[in-house]
Amino acid sequence: MIKHNHSQPFLISIFLLFNSILLSATDFIFNGFNSSDVLLYGNATIDSRVLTLTHDQTFSIGRALYHKKIPTKQPNSSYIYPFSTSFIFSMAPYKGTLPGHGLVFIFTPVTGIQGTTSAQNLGLFNLTNNGNSSNHVLGVEFDVFMNQEFDDINANHVGIDINSLTSLVSHDAGYWPDDRKSNDENSFKELKLNNGENYQVWIDYEDSLINVTMAPVGMKRPIRPLLNVSLNLSQVFVDEMFVGFTSATGQLVQSHKILAWSFSNSNFSLSEELITKGLPSFVLPKDSIFNSKGFVAGFTVGVFFIICLFALLAMVLVQRMRSRARKRAAMEDWELEYWPHRMTYEEIEAATKGFHEENVIGVGGNGKVYKGVLRGGAEIAVKRISHENDGLREFLAEISSLGRLKQRNLVRLRGWCKRDQGNFLLVYDYMENGSLDKRVFDCDESKMLNCEERIRIIKDVAFAVLYLHEGWESKVVHRDIKASNVLLDKDMNGRLGDFGLARMHNHDHVARTTKLVGTVGYMAPEVIKTGRASTKTDVYMFGILILEVMCGRRPLEEGKPPLVECVWQLMLQGELVNALDERLRAKGELLNLQEVERVLNLGLLCAYPEPQARPTMRQVVNILEGKKEGQDSEIENMDTYLLQQLNSRDILSEYTQYFSYASHPTFEDIRHSSSMSLTWSKSIVEEGR
Ligand SMILES: *[C@@H]1O[C@H](CO)[C@@H](O)[C@H](O)[C@H]1NC(C)=O
Ligand SMILES: *[C@@H]1O[C@H](CO)[C@@H](O)[C@H](O)[C@H]1NC(C)=O
Ligand SMILES: *[C@@H]1O[C@H](CO)[C@@H](O)[C@H](O)[C@H]1NC(C)=O
Ligand SMILES: *[C@@H]1O[C@H](CO)[C@@H](O)[C@H](O)[C@H]1NC(C)=O
Ligand SMILES: *[C@@H]1O[C@H](CO)[C@@H](O)[C@H](O)[C@H]1NC(C)=O
Ligand SMILES: *[C@@H]1O[C@H](CO)[C@@H](O)[C@H](O)[C@H]1NC(C)=O
Ligand SMILES: *[C@@H]1O[C@H](CO)[C@@H](O)[C@H](O)[C@H]1NC(C)=O
Ligand SMILES: *[C@@H]1O[C@H](CO)[C@@H](O)[C@H](O)[C@H]1NC(C)=O
Ligand SMILES: *[C@@H]1O[C@H](CO)[C@@H](O)[C@H](O)[C@H]1NC(C)=O
Repeated sequence: MIKHNHSQPFLISIFLLFNSILLSATDFIFNGFNSSDVLLYGNATIDSRVLTLTHDQTFSIGRALYHKKIPTKQPNSSYIYPFSTSFIFSMAPYKGTLPGHGLVFIFTPVTGIQGTTSAQNLGLFNLTNNGNSSNHVLGVEFDVFMNQEFDDINANHVGIDINSLTSLVSHDAGYWPDDRKSNDENSFKELKLNNGENYQVWIDYEDSLINVTMAPVGMKRPIRPLLNVSLNLSQVFVDEMFVGFTSATGQLVQSHKILAWSFSNSNFSLSEELITKGLPSFVLPKDSIFNSKGFVAGFTVGVFFIICLFALLAMVLVQRMRSRARKRAAMEDWELEYWPHRMTYEEIEAATKGFHEENVIGVGGNGKVYKGVLRGGAEIAVKRISHENDGLREFLAEISSLGRLKQRNLVRLRGWCKRDQGNFLLVYDYMENGSLDKRVFDCDESKMLNCEERIRIIKDVAFAVLYLHEGWESKVVHRDIKASNVLLDKDMNGRLGDFGLARMHNHDHVARTTKLVGTVGYMAPEVIKTGRASTKTDVYMFGILILEVMCGRRPLEEGKPPLVECVWQLMLQGELVNALDERLRAKGELLNLQEVERVLNLGLLCAYPEPQARPTMRQVVNILEGKKEGQDSEIENMDTYLLQQLNSRDILSEYTQYFSYASHPTFEDIRHSSSMSLTWSKSIVEEGR
C-alpha cells in the first residue's frame, strides 16, 4: 500500500508533527515584566517593569528564566520544535567605570546559577564545566569584552555558544541595512552593544537552521540575518528546557537590562506584538554639567535659578563649540603633519579589488586586514579601522610613529588614508609568511618553525623592542607584544607590528597610561593592578612571548595552569628542557639543549613578577646575542648574572608566593584578593576621568 501511495504517510507524519507542535506550543509576550512572569536568580531584579539582570557592583551574576519548563522535542526524538524569540535589551556603562561583560540568551535544563561564575564567564559556566557537553546549554551571547581564552573576535560581538563560552560562530554586532545590496559587506552597520541604546534581537530556529538578527529598536527587522548557520540541536536540548537570560559583571561593571520579550513555537510573527515605542532610555547623558553646584544653588534660589540656567546653557554651548574647534584643529594638525604619507582611497580600493572578501587576510580588534597589490606591483596589507573612538586612537598611535620608526625588525607602515569620520586605512608592507603564532600553534608539521628558527625570530623581536625602548629620541612602549603581533617576511625574518596601543614618552619620563590595554595572559601583574605600562611591562610581555614560542603553548589555555607557572615548575624540578614544544622534541632533530635552556631561563627572568628584577632589553639582547669579539667578559658576566638571579632565594620565594594566590591573574582571580581589587578599582576611577 505504501508503495502505491506516497502521499499518505507523508500527510500523516505532517499531521502528527503539526499536532505535536500545537500540543506543546508555548507562546508568551512580555512588554515589561512582573515577578510572576519569570524566575529570578542571583542579583537579577525587576525594576519598574524592566528586567535588570545585574546590579551596579563588581562580580555580580543575574539570571532570569521563564517561569516554567518548555517542551523542546518529543521524548526520544531528534526533531527539535521550531522556535522564534525576540527581545529588547540595553547595556549601559556607569560613569567613571570601565564597562563589562555582556548578556546571553539561554536555553538551559536547570534553574539557578550554581556552576557559573562572573566576569568573562558571563554567569553562564565556570572554569570546570565550560565546554562540557553534559551542560546541554544553547546560548546567544552579546559580549563586550575580548577574551583570548575563548577566541573572542573583538570586544563587541554576537556569538552562538553550545555548552561552551568559545563561540561556534560569531560576528561583530550590527546589521545589514535592507536598502543596499545586502551581500555588500561594506554596507554593514556596526552597533555598539553597551552604549545604553535599546536594541531588538530576533532569534529563529527551524529545521536545524538558526537565525540571529539585531537592529536598533524601532527599526524593521533587517532581511539579512547577522548570523545564519545550520545547527543540529538534537544532542544539545533535553526534552524540556528553561529559557531566559543570564549576565555578569566582573571587575568591569555595566548594567544589563531586558525591556521586552516574546517567544513562540508556532507563530513566527509574534515578535510584531512587542512594543518598541516610548521605551525608557538608558543612554548616559553626554554632559553632566547640570549636576554641578551652580545648578543646585540656582534651583533653590528662585530668580537666581533662571540666571544660572542661562549661564550654564551659555557655558555648555561655549564648551561644545570649543571642543568641536579643538577637535577640528587636532585633526588638521595631524593631517598636515603626515600629509606626505597620505594615499588616496581609490588607490587602496583598486589595490584590494574593492575590499573584496577574498582579500581578507586577518581580522583584528578594530577591523579587518586585506591584502592588496599597488599599481607598481608592490604587495601591501591594508588595515581597515572603522570603530569610531578606539579606532581614531589606534589610528593616530600608528601614524604618529610613521616614517620615524625605521628598523629592519619592525613592520613598515607605508601610508594612511582617512575616508570620512571614523573610517581609516593603514597601509603596510605585506608580510608573505603571516604571523608567528600561525607558524607555532595552528599549523601542520611542514610549516611549523624549528627550534633554531624560533630562537632567531625571538632575537629579531628583541632587537625591535630594544629599538623602541632606546633607539629613538622618544621612548616607545609597545604594550601589546605577543606572537600574533610578530609577522614573518619572505626571508622568515621576524618583524614586530601593530602599534595600535603604542605610546611614546620622553626618556626618563614615567609612562602614565589612561586605560587598561593589552591582551589578557600577556599583561604584567603590575599593569593589571595599576593600569600603568612601562618598558618593564614590555619586557614582561617579551618574556611570555619567548615562553609561548619555545613551548608551543599559549600563555593561558583552558583547564591548564598558566604557561609561566608550568615552565617555572619544570625549572624547579631541573627539567626545564621538557618545557620545549613536544612536537619539536618528537621530531628528534639535533637540538642545542644548552641554548634552549638559556633562552627559556631568559623567558622566565623577563616574565618575573617583580618589575625591578626584570632585565632591560639591552641586557636581553646581549644575552641572546651570545659572543661578540671584545665583549666576552661582559657576556660571561651577563650569563652569571642570569644564573645568579634565577638561583637566588629571593626569586624563588617571590615566584612561589606569587603563584600561591594567582599567577597571571584573570579578572576572576583578582576577585579573590581584596587588597588587589581595591587598588584596581581606584585606578579605574582615575582612568574614567
Ligand atoms: C503579571 O503579568 C501577567 C501577564 O504578563 C499578568 O497576567 C499578571 O496579572 C501580572 N501580575 C501582576 C501581579 O501584576
Ligand atoms: C548579589 O551578588 C553578590 C555577589 O555576587 C552577593 O553577595 C549578593 O548576595 C547578591 N545579592 C542578591 C540579592 O542576590
Ligand atoms: C525513550 O528511551 C528510553 C531509554 O532510551 C526508554 O526507556 C523509553 O521507553 C523511551 N520512551 C519512548 C516514549 O519511546
Ligand atoms: C563549577 O561548577 C561545578 C558544578 O556546580 C562545581 O562542581 C565546580 O567545582 C565548579 N568549578 C569551579 C572552578 O568553580
Ligand atoms: C562533564 O560533566 C559531567 C557531569 O558533571 C562529568 O561527569 C564529566 O566528567 C565532565 N566531563 C568532562 C570532560 O569534564
Ligand atoms: C532566517 O531569516 C530569514 C529572513 O530574516 C527568514 O526568511 C528565514 O525563514 C529565517 N530562517 C529560520 C530558520 O528561521
Ligand atoms: C540562511 O542559510 C541557509 C542555509 O545555509 C540558506 O538557505 C538561507 O537562504 C539563508 N538565509 C538568509 C536570509 O540568508
Ligand atoms: C541531528 O542529529 C541527530 C543525531 O545526532 C540525527 O538523528 C538527525 O537526523 C539530525 N538532524 C538533521 C536535520 O540533520
Ligand atoms: C501570529 O501573530 C501575529 C501577531 O500577533 C498575529 O497577527 C497572527 O494572527 C498570529 N498568527 C496565528 C496563526 O496565530
